[in-house]
Amino acid sequence: MKTTQNSKNYNNKVVVIGGGFVGSAIFHDLIVNRYFNEYGLIDINEKLAQGVVADLDDGYGKNNFSSNLTIKVSDYKDVGNANIVVITAGRNQRPGETRTELLKDNVKILTAIIENINKSGFNGIMIIVSNPNDVMTHIARKISNLPGEQIFGSGTVLDSFRAKQMIIGEHGDTSLLLKNIGKDTEAVEKQVRNRAYEIIQNKGNTCYGIAAAVSYIIKTILSDKNENNNVLPLSVKYDDISISVPVVLDIKNDKISIKTQLLNDMDKTQKNKFNHSCETVKTNIKSLEN
Ligand SMILES: NC(=O)c1ccc[n+]([C@@H]2O[C@H](COP(=O)([O-])OP(=O)(O)OC[C@H]3O[C@@H](n4cnc5c(N)ncnc54)[C@H](O)[C@@H]3O)[C@@H](O)[C@H]2O)c1
Repeated sequence: MKTTQNSKNYNNKVVVIGGGFVGSAIFHDLIVNRYFNEYGLIDINEKLAQGVVADLDDGYGKNNFSSNLTIKVSDYKDVGNANIVVITAGRNQRPGETRTELLKDNVKILTAIIENINKSGFNGIMIIVSNPNDVMTHIARKISNLPGEQIFGSGTVLDSFRAKQMIIGEHGDTSLLLKNIGKDTEAVEKQVRNRAYEIIQNKGNTCYGIAAAVSYIIKTILSDKNENNNVLPLSVKYDDISISVPVVLDIKNDKISIKTQLLNDMDKTQKNKFNHSCETVKTNIKSLEN
């Protein structure tokens, strides 16, 4: 990784872009875990960013008892020397709208954000959380000035939390278990795919689960664990798309590598599902060209 930053200082500053349900839950989780010294939030809705920051600063900010955390509304100048940027900006589907229409709008939002990040000179790690996660990660890699291995999507880490075992593929309706577990395989996969829809039906959004997943990814980045403990299903470059595969996060040694052996070991049924998942992501990327 061609970062000029000392990896020992990765825990100095994080900026979260998008302070809606997901962004504010992630922001909260990272603050509560005290992973960083400085926490910045950017949202196009400045009042929202100010509100979230004030609320969290009241509880955890600098003037509070023994806390020395800086919690603030950021701008893109502030992104330049951040260690990690987490992108959650985007919007959800409107009634009657197709997924492709939504996708095109979210790509426009992401493009504007990445262009601003490029201008800031940011050279840390960029984590994409916005959906559709694999397409957004693919686009981010295309537009960003960063080396590709410094950008990845949160992918199927949350799906894996939900299954209590590794889920790979598209973060969406074609995700699959890495390992065929026999007669329960289809049931577990179906449960995982339906989980977000069920939660959204009950509370209108999902945010705490993804916050825990992003928090876990960041904890892994900051940790000194050995490589076997660091295998996560992140959305990274695979062939000419982005999709979740098991990767080893070894940021301190400047390495993010795909565990190809784990993919090669998949049985035929899971391999076929994985290929179908790749095709689905490819089709979604292609739909942007029309
Ligand atoms: N990867 C996952 O597992 C996962 C899980 C849940 C949600 N999501 C995705 O996260 C995204 C956010 O979801 P949410 O529920 O927080 O939505 P939300 O509407 O509550 O928040 C989105 C925020 O983005 C902001 N925004 C829009 N354009 C912006 C720009 N150009 N710059 C900065 N901020 C901008 C909006 O003002 C809003 O506050 C969606 O794409 C959603 O699908 C991903």
